[in-house]
Amino acid sequence: MSDKAILEYGGKRYEFPVIKGTEDELAIDIKALRAETGMVTIDPGYKNTGSCESAVTFLDGEKGILRYRGYSIEELAEKADFLEVAYLLIFGELPNKAQLAKFHNDIKEESQVDEEMKKILDGFPKSAHPMGVLSSLTSALVAFNPTSVDVSSETAMYNSIVRILAKFPVLVAWTLRKKKGLPLDYGDDSLGYVENIHKMMFKRPNQDYKKDPIAIDALDKLLILHADHEQNCSTSTVRIVGSSHAGLFASLSAGISALWGPLHGGANQAVLEMLEAIEADGGDTKKYMAKAKDKDDPFRLMGFGHRVYKNFDPRAKIIKKAADDVLGNLGIQDPILDIAKGLEKEALEDPYFVDRKLYPNVDFYSGIIYRALGIPTEMFTVMFALGRLPGWIAQWREMRLRKEPIGRPRQVYIGENLRSFVPLEKR
Ligand code: CMC
Repeated sequence: MSDKAILEYGGKRYEFPVIKGTEDELAIDIKALRAETGMVTIDPGYKNTGSCESAVTFLDGEKGILRYRGYSIEELAEKADFLEVAYLLIFGELPNKAQLAKFHNDIKEESQVDEEMKKILDGFPKSAHPMGVLSSLTSALVAFNPTSVDVSSETAMYNSIVRILAKFPVLVAWTLRKKKGLPLDYGDDSLGYVENIHKMMFKRPNQDYKKDPIAIDALDKLLILHADHEQNCSTSTVRIVGSSHAGLFASLSAGISALWGPLHGGANQAVLEMLEAIEADGGDTKKYMAKAKDKDDPFRLMGFGHRVYKNFDPRAKIIKKAADDVLGNLGIQDPILDIAKGLEKEALEDPYFVDRKLYPNVDFYSGIIYRALGIPTEMFTVMFALGRLPGWIAQWREMRLRKEPIGRPRQVYIGENLRSFVPLEKR
């Protein structure tokens, strides 16, 4: 097979190299397209555009495969913990014991958040959405850690990375605690990374913290499943903001905003609200299925469909089982889980969903687990952000190390041609 793609236009013939990834994905390299032809490509939503070459995550939407750095998501979810996965994503290899201990210690060294940050949090009303608060606080961290904008060397990048891995969970916990009216506290450096997050979120001021292995395991697994997903909306945002050489924290703050939307990470909140609405409406799933299929109704079945997965989302399979396990282990019977299973069954048998290859995605069952763990619905997307943090960092670091140029797409202008200015009194 030729390793060139031929383009013919205006009686001329152009050749462009075809490149192949390590999993045999093919791409036409059009770097020289505009210089040679004067044309650009147009691809709204970037459905056919590879924005970069990346060695972090592989996913095959047709086969339902997801791998971080070559390791399958199924194996990682079963055998690794979140901190190991974070190290793997960011640095490319699973850490040995000494590497993991150093990484964790470096994070612990940075786990203090400037107390002045509490004043910023104080300025938000209790009703503020936690994603907006978190995005703002992440941006504000730059002011308290001015050297974090220095990303000129690997050491400088490393320092920013451990700083944010240490401080972000504190911000997440503070955001939750403010919502619940609990005192803002710090964690305990003697605990594991996820155990510490759990403690920071849930410790009550008048009780000792009791370790809850079921909750911690579930949290660990959910964070792993969300840790990276190649060039999705928020990750592309992080990379593009970082490509202007903005620092890591500013890039992440932009990524958090992108994740907030209900078509992306915000779907986990939207799923639970949808399931609750169906329950409150008498549990009539058929009515909501009909709404989802009605083109005149903006309602979509939240937690269904994916830009890339057109067979099944491997994360959804793991999460569905985890939801059963966690609710079973905690002895919780949640009617919402039954509604979710009913909807899934109906959708998987319905030609509308089958024809469009719409399957449950990672967000369909995650909210049910978060709810069982006592996490308020508005915090679900924050939990997604917490999990996605290492992925964003890994992708940002890769972009920096590969010295990628500033992200700056072209457009096809469809507005007015040159016209003369008309003075106000004549309009
Ligand atoms: N309910 C009903 N119809 C749907 C849905 C849905 N959830 N998702 C897609 N469709 C239909 C859509 O109306 C279109 O139909 P038609 O061809 O007749 O016009 C067709 O399926 C293709 O949809 P699309 O919007 O062109 O597909 P996309 O790849 O641009 O969008 C998506 C993917 C995830 C935004 C979309 O499926 C969706 O809105 N899902 C619900 C929100 C959701 O669960 N998002 C979380 C994604 S997973 C977490 C993450 O990684 O972000």
